[in-house]
Amino acid sequence: MPDGRAVQSGHAVIPGSFDPPTNGHLDIIERAASIFPRLTVAVVVNPQKRDPLFTVAERELMLRECVAGFGNVQVDHFGGLLADFVRSLRADVIVKGLRVVSDFESEMAYAHMNRALCGVDTMFLMAHEGYSFISSSIVKEVFGQSGDVAGFVPKSVLAALEQKRTTTGGTNVDLPRHR
Ligand code: PNS
Repeated sequence: MPDGRAVQSGHAVIPGSFDPPTNGHLDIIERAASIFPRLTVAVVVNPQKRDPLFTVAERELMLRECVAGFGNVQVDHFGGLLADFVRSLRADVIVKGLRVVSDFESEMAYAHMNRALCGVDTMFLMAHEGYSFISSSIVKEVFGQSGDVAGFVPKSVLAALEQKRTTTGGTNVDLPRHR
């Protein structure tokens, strides 16, 4: 090992939109938390992404509820470049989940760019085979059409989805009311 840094600190960052967090996200978070002594789950503040269902604060709250049992996981948010955020935390590694081969192409470019920008490597965990088809987008689409997503998101996220439908009536996303 060149400098032993990972052994001394081992702070990993899992970035994402988490709009909303899914069981697939939680699986990656849980596995990363068992590998690294310290883990930051970071919600991106992305003004370019139009029509998010949940605010950044709501996503952070859902994630905090999901990781409440993990003593080594904290939840944060960041704007701008992930590389700058990782540098500001003095984190050692970025962790991402890969679901399917097509994920790899864009993730490879991100990983190279982030390492060029901040010198931090990205490590990939293969998504659990049972979650390889789950994404936040597909969960929102199915839920928006009154489909059952209970098996794909944590209970607290399901409650937040139901609450969102009640409070917004689906005005900021295609979330029709139950008939
Ligand atoms: O959950 P997502 O939407 O797939 O997460 C994408 C995320 C947040 C990891 C990516 O968009 C990101 O890193 N955004 C921050 C802006 C940035 O650093 N862009 C250049 C990446 S090399």
